Amino acid sequence: MEQLLQQIEAIKAEIAATVANTPEQVEQFRIKYLGTKGLVKEIMGEMKNVPNEQKKEFGQILNAFKMVAEEKMQQLQSALGDSDEQTAKFDFTLPGDPVAVGTRHPLNLVRNQMVSIFKRLGFAVAEGPEVEDDWHNFGAMNLPEDHPARDMQDTFYVQEASENNAAWLLRTHTSSVQARVMETQKPPIRVICPGRVYRNETISARAHCFFHQVEGLYIDENVSFADLKQTLYFFVQEMFGKEVKVRFRPSYFPFTEPSAEMDISCQICSGKGCNICKHTGWVEILGSGMVHPKVLENFGIDPEKYTGFAFGMGVERIAQLKYQVNDLRLYSQNDLRFLEQFKSV
Ligand code: PHE
Repeated sequence: MEQLLQQIEAIKAEIAATVANTPEQVEQFRIKYLGTKGLVKEIMGEMKNVPNEQKKEFGQILNAFKMVAEEKMQQLQSALGDSDEQTAKFDFTLPGDPVAVGTRHPLNLVRNQMVSIFKRLGFAVAEGPEVEDDWHNFGAMNLPEDHPARDMQDTFYVQEASENNAAWLLRTHTSSVQARVMETQKPPIRVICPGRVYRNETISARAHCFFHQVEGLYIDENVSFADLKQTLYFFVQEMFGKEVKVRFRPSYFPFTEPSAEMDISCQICSGKGCNICKHTGWVEILGSGMVHPKVLENFGIDPEKYTGFAFGMGVERIAQLKYQVNDLRLYSQNDLRFLEQFKSV
C-alpha cells in the first residue's frame, strides 16, 4: 500500500512539472497519463489488490489522482489555445524591444585613437608575444644583468634562467616588440607597439599588475631629437587638442641616450592644480629618447649611419586624462555600469 501511495505521489509531481509547448506534446501527455494504456488506468487497476476495508479510502485517493491528471491536461490545452489567440491579437506594427548592444572597452577606444594618430604619421603597428625571453625584454634593451627592473619584485618570471635555458617572463614593456622588429627588419623602421605588459605591483587605485602601453620606434638616417619632439607634440595635440602644452625633462633609460620624459599640461584642471597633477599643473605621460647606439648594434644596425628615437606611454594614463578615471582597477573589473559609459571617443 505504502509503495502504491509513493508511486502516486511521484507521478503527481511528474505531472505538475510537465510543460507542453506544442499540440504534439499535449497529445503525448494525454497518451502517457490518460490513454487506455496510460499510467492513470494502470494505477486504477491496482484497486483490485486493495483489501476491502481500505477500498473506500483508496478509491478517493485514486479519484483525486485522476483529477490531477485531467486538470493538467485541460490546463495544457488551454495554454496552447491561449497562445494561438495571443498570436492572433499581436500587433506586428509595434516597435520591437531595443536590443542592448555592447560597448567598446575604454582602453580599446583610447588605444585605437592613439594608433590611428601614429598611423597618420606613417607608423606601422607591430605586435609580439606577452611571454618573452630575457633577451628581448631586457638584454637587447641594454639593461645590465643587475638592473633592478629584472628583480623578482618587479618582474613576473615564468621560468627562471638555468644552465641551458634563458629566463622566460611576462614582458614588462613593449620595448620587447621593438627588439623583435629590429631583429627582423632593416631601417628605415617606423613602428608602434601597442600591447599589454605586466609588472609585479601591489594592486591599488594607482598601480596594477598589468597595464597597456603604446611604444614607438623610428630608425632612419638623420633622425634627430627634434623629430622626436615634433612627433610627440603632434600626437598630444591630436589627442587632447591644440591648447595642450608640453615640456620635456631629462631622464634616464638604459636603452636611450639622451632620454627625456614628457609632461603635458594637466587635462583635468587645465594646469590650475588638482589631485591628478599633484597640484603642479603638469602630468607625466611618457618616456622617450634617442635609441642607444648599443641597442642598434645589438641588431646589426650601424649607429654611425642610422639614428632613431623611441618612446613609450601607458594607455591607462592617457585614458585617465581623457575620461578622468581615477582608479585603475575599474578597467579590469568588468562592471557594466562603468563600461557602458564609453560609447565612443
Ligand atoms: N620602455 C619604457 C617603459 O616601459 C618606456 C620607454 C620606451 C622609454 C622607449 C624610452 C623609450 O617604461
